Amino acid sequence: MLRDADMLSHLMRRRPRHSLPRDLYTDPDLYEVDLHRIWYADWLFALPACEIPKTGNHVTLQVADHSVIVVRGADGTIRAFHNTCRHRGSRLCKPGRSSSPKIVCPYHQWTYELDGRLLWARDMGPDFDPSKHGLKPVHCRDAGGLVFICLAETPPPFDALAAAAERYFGPHGLDRCKVAHESSIVEQANWKLVMENNRECYHCSGAHPALCVSFDDNPNIAGNGDGMTDPAIEAHLAKCEAAGLPSRFHIAPDNKWRMVRVPLLGKAVSYTMDGKAAVSQTVGDVPIRDAGTLLFFHYPNTWNHFLSDTVMLFRMLPLGPQETEVTTKWLVHEDAVEGRDYDLDRLTEVWTLTNDEDRAIVEENQKGINSPVYEPGPYSETQESGVIQFVDWYADTMTERLTGRALHAAE
Ligand code: FES
Ligand SMILES: [Fe+2]
Repeated sequence: MLRDADMLSHLMRRRPRHSLPRDLYTDPDLYEVDLHRIWYADWLFALPACEIPKTGNHVTLQVADHSVIVVRGADGTIRAFHNTCRHRGSRLCKPGRSSSPKIVCPYHQWTYELDGRLLWARDMGPDFDPSKHGLKPVHCRDAGGLVFICLAETPPPFDALAAAAERYFGPHGLDRCKVAHESSIVEQANWKLVMENNRECYHCSGAHPALCVSFDDNPNIAGNGDGMTDPAIEAHLAKCEAAGLPSRFHIAPDNKWRMVRVPLLGKAVSYTMDGKAAVSQTVGDVPIRDAGTLLFFHYPNTWNHFLSDTVMLFRMLPLGPQETEVTTKWLVHEDAVEGRDYDLDRLTEVWTLTNDEDRAIVEENQKGINSPVYEPGPYSETQESGVIQFVDWYADTMTERLTGRALHAAE
C-alpha cells in the first residue's frame, strides 16, 4: 500500500542516533501504519490481574479502533474479547471497570457467558446456531501478574517474557496487591514521543524536582546499559540478588522488553517527597526496604517500577497521531489500609507531579516538531542510549514487518 511504502522510505532515510523524521511524529497516514504494524500486531499491557480478582470482574479498554473486554471467568481464567455484539454489533460494555455475572448486550439483550459463548438470544428461530455467534476472542496472557492482550491473529512469542516476568516480579506478589489509585491523563503528542521521553533522564534534573529526591538521573541507571561498569549499581545488584530478588539486567533478544533493578538515590526507599517508605507493609515477599526499583519496559506501551512498598504500572494507549493516553496505577499490599498504612496523597504525589511535568515537556516537544523547520537532531549517546534503543527497535521492527522478513526473533 502507498502509506506502507511512504513509511518505508521515511525509515530508509532516517539518520541513525537522531530523532525521527517529522512525518513519523505527525502524519495521520503514518500513524495508521503504526496502528496496523505495531499496535494491532504486538502484545500490549492491559491491566494487573489483581484489578479483576473475582468472577465477572471486567475492564474495557480502547486500542485505537478496537474496544476490548478483559474479564475473569467462573474458572478463574482471565480472557479477552472484542467488545462488539455478534447480533448487530452494539458495544457490549462501557469503558472502564465493572462487574456482572454474564455479559449482556444493552441493545437486544443477547447474553454471553464470561468465556465468550452465546448463552441466550430471543426469538432467533429454529435454524439459529448460538455456537456460531460467540464473542470474538482476543489473545490474552499473564506475565507475572500483568495481563497482556494481542489483537493479531497470530501473536508474537510470549513464553520468554512470561518466564522472566514470573521470576523478576514474583517476589513483589502482584496476586496479593490491590490498586490503591489510578490516574489517566491525555498528552497531546505522538505515542513515540511519550515513550522516548520515558527512556531517558537527560531531562530529569530540569523537569522533575520532586522525582529527583529519590530517583537517580545517573545515565547508567536511566539509560540502556547493564550498569555493570558502575560499582554502586553492581553493589546494589549483588545485594538484591543475595536477598533473593532477581535483579540483573535482562533484555529480550529482539529488544522489545527489559528488566533491571537499580538503586534509588541516597537512603531513599520509595518515590515520596522525603524518600521514606510510602506504605507500612512491603509488597509480596520483598525482604529488604532498600531494594531500589525494578524497571520493566515492554514496547510499545508500558514501563513500570517495582519498589519494596509499591508497584507502579504505566500504560500508554494511542488516541490519535498527536494524542496519547497515559494511565498510571499504584499497587500496594492488599491488606494495606488507606489512612492507617498509607496516606494516598503521600503515595501518589511524586508521580502525579512527574506525570504532569512529562506531559508538559512532551507536548512542547510535539509543538516544536510541528514547526516546518524541524529537522531530526542528535541524541546524546551518554544520556539517551535508552531512546536510541527504543527508536532502533521501532525502526527495525517496522522495517521487518513491512518488508516481510522474519517477523519475530526466535525465543
Ligand atoms: S446488537 Fe447486541 S443484542 Fe442486538
Ligand atoms: Fe520525565
